[in-house]
Amino acid sequence: MNIAFIGYGNMGSALLNGILASEKKLLDTNIYVFHNKNEKSFQRERCIFKKSGESVEVDFDIIFLCTKPKDIEKSINENSKIFNDNQVIVSIAAGLSSKNIKNFIQKKIFVVRAMPNLCAIFSESITGLFFDELIDNTKKEFIKNIFNSVGHIREIDEDEMHLFTAIFGSGPAYIMYFIESLINSGNFKNIKEEDKSILILHLLNSTSKMLFVSEDIKYLRSQVTSKGGTTEAAIKIFENKKLSKTIKEAVENAAKKSLDLSK
Ligand SMILES: NC(=O)c1ccc[n+]([C@@H]2O[C@H](COP(=O)([O-])OP(=O)(O)OC[C@H]3O[C@@H](n4cnc5c(N)ncnc54)[C@H](OP(=O)(O)O)[C@@H]3O)[C@@H](O)[C@H]2O)c1
Repeated sequence: MNIAFIGYGNMGSALLNGILASEKKLLDTNIYVFHNKNEKSFQRERCIFKKSGESVEVDFDIIFLCTKPKDIEKSINENSKIFNDNQVIVSIAAGLSSKNIKNFIQKKIFVVRAMPNLCAIFSESITGLFFDELIDNTKKEFIKNIFNSVGHIREIDEDEMHLFTAIFGSGPAYIMYFIESLINSGNFKNIKEEDKSILILHLLNSTSKMLFVSEDIKYLRSQVTSKGGTTEAAIKIFENKKLSKTIKEAVENAAKKSLDLSK
C-alpha cells in the first residue's frame, strides 16, 4: 500500500507516530510526506519527505490531508498530480465536508472524515470517523487501525461530526478551563503554585480512575456529597448559577460554529 500525507504538523506527525508504532502489517507501506518547510532536515524510518508540489512517480492508495482547513484547497492544488480516481482521501480538517473535499479534488474519490483531538500526540485521542459507504473494506480496516493506534475510535454519521467536534475535539480545552479555574480558586501558604497545579492534576487522574470502575457517575457523586456538607455547599452554587445548562449551551455553540465554518 502506498500512502501520502499532505501536511506534517501536530496531527500529521502524531498520525505518522501511530503508524510507525503500530503492528507489522501497517509497516508494509511506503509513506510519502509532502511538507511546507524550506529546509529538508526531516528524517524518519520508512518515510520519504517531499516539498509540497514536488512530483513523484507513485500511485497512492490513501492520501491523508493534514493541513489547516484554510490551507487545504491550496495544498490540494499544489499537489494535484498525486490525486487519481478510486483513491481514498482521509481529511482531518475541522468543518470541511466530504462534498467540499470532492469539489476541491475533482476526481472519483472516496472520502473519509476523521476528527481526532490533541491527545493524539500522546496516543490518547478520541477520534470520530465517517466513511464513504462505498469504501473498500480492506482500506477501511487499515484506516481504522491507524486511528486506533493513536487512541479510541468511533464511527459516526457525517452530520454528527459537528457535535463530535464540539464535545471531543474541543473537550480537552474545556477540561483545561475547569482545571485552570480550580487552580486559581485559592492559595496555600506552604504549597507552591506549581505543586498545587500538580496536585490538581492528581485529583483529576484519581477521580477519572474512580469513574472508570464506577457504573453510575451520579450515584458516586451523591456518595461524596453529604447533606449539609462542604461539597454540597459548592455544588449548590454550581446549580444556582446553572453551570450544567451553561456547559450544554457552550457545547451547542461550538457545534453551531463547526456547522457555520462548513458552509
Ligand atoms: N490540533 C488539533 O487538536 C486538531 C484536532 C482535530 C482536527 N485537527 C485538524 O488537523 C489539521 C491539522 O492541524 P494541526 O494542528 O496539525 O496543524 P499544524 O500543526 O499547523 O499542521 C499543519 C501543517 O500543514 C503545513 N502546510 C501548510 N500548507 C501546506 C501546503 N500547501 N502543503 C503542505 N503542507 C502545508 C503547515 O506548514 P507551515 O506551518 O510551514 O505552514 C503545518 O506543518 C487541521 O485541518 C485541523 O482542523 C486538528
